[in-house]
This record gives sequence, C-alpha cells and structure tokens, in this order.
Amino acid sequence: MVIDTHCHLEKEQYENLEEIIEKMKDHYMISSACSKETFQELIDLIKDYPNIYGTIGFHPEEAGKYQKEDLLLLEKYLENKKIVGIGEIGLDYHYEGINKEKQKELFLSQLDLALKYKKAVVIHSRDAALDTYNLLKPYAFKIPIVLHCYSYSKEMAEKFIELGCKLGIGGVLTFKNEKKLKEIVKEFSLENFLLETDSPYLSPEPKRGIKNEPSHIFYVAQKMAELKGLKEEEVLNQTTSNAIAQFDLPI
Ligand code: NI
Repeated sequence: MVIDTHCHLEKEQYENLEEIIEKMKDHYMISSACSKETFQELIDLIKDYPNIYGTIGFHPEEAGKYQKEDLLLLEKYLENKKIVGIGEIGLDYHYEGINKEKQKELFLSQLDLALKYKKAVVIHSRDAALDTYNLLKPYAFKIPIVLHCYSYSKEMAEKFIELGCKLGIGGVLTFKNEKKLKEIVKEFSLENFLLETDSPYLSPEPKRGIKNEPSHIFYVAQKMAELKGLKEEEVLNQTTSNAIAQFDLPI
C-alpha cells in the first residue's frame, strides 16, 4: 500500500479525475486545497471517497488577497475529521514584489490554527529556507510538520529533521540532473521521508512532460529504493507508516 501524501485532485486539472482516482483504489491520497475557491470542492471529494483525505490552507501566494475573516472559513473546514492537516502553507520569496511580512503573518496565523485544532502542517517553502526554519522552530514537536517537495540543502535537511520534520519527496528525485535530493535520500534514514506526487505537477521520469497523477508515485518509490539499496516494498512500508503517524490517519 502507498499513500500519496500530497496531490491536488481538482476537476479543473483533470477531465478524467474519476479514472485517475480509480487507479489508486487500493491506496490512499491526501489532496490539498490551497485557495478559498477550491476548499468546497475538496470537502465534497473526501466525502465521496474513503481513501482520500485532505489538507486545506492558504498558500503563501494568497497572502496578498486573503482577509482576516477568511481564517474563520478555514476554521470551519478544520472541524471536518477527514481534513488531516493545514497546507500547503508557508513562504515563497521566488517572485519579485511579494510582501514578505504579509506572508509571515498568514503563515503564523495558520500555524496557530494547527496548534488549536491539533492538525499537521504541510509546508510550501521556496527561496525562504531560513525564515521558514525560524518560524517553524517554536512549533516543533507541538504539531507534526511536513516539508512538502523538499528542495533545500543537505545541511538544512539536517536542521529540519532535528525539529522532527518529515521531508516530502516526489518526482524531482527521479530527474536525471538532480543530485542534491538524491544525496539527501541516501544520507538520512527512511523514517524521515514521505512519498508524494504533487500531481498534477512535477511528473517523475519516465512520465516527464505529461500530467502527473498519484499512480506515478511508484516511480518515486522505486528510485528511493534504488538509491538506498532497499526493496521497493520496504520503502513503501516504512513511508506508509510514517504518513499514517504524521497525519494521524485512522487506517
Ligand atoms: Ni502542491
């Protein structure tokens, strides 16, 4: 069994969403809605499928748009038992003209909600390693933290792991030119990793160039097994129990 711990199962992205979900009928998925417009669709989806859970939260790109009342809407959805985390939330300094202070404020408010509702957090962090680390530190060991699509250095990985964070590993691991992430996967023990696809983005080899979907997760598991000299089954077993523990899944 496998758990795709991070994907975006949205009708706008997939004409054949039902088929894509059907391929994963013996497995689990955690779908993430990161803007107000997509929250309700996720709630409907997790109601229809027992093997899909959700995370919900305001992406840092929403920082310019969100209003304080929007957090109340978020709280309403957090009462749903199948919403197992808040995310993706975090910091993204990639584009010019972003308001870092607003991003931090939005991030911190959602970390506080995670404490209040005892939910995991799924972190999106780009070009903002140190600020992300410093903001997360006070929450370490109080809430489960996942760094989705981990993309920073090995040194930062060590620091985040010391805070009890799990690193989400997806299709990037299979890219031919990717060295850093492969080193990280080799270096740290399996207990620190979760598998994810980030579908519809970041398709792994050999599916690069086509739209990603949760069933492609096995290419990531295969690559992880190869890099660590383990059987694919061992990777699946350990990362599945990591995900169950991190998101407190009732499975
Ligand atoms: Ni994502």
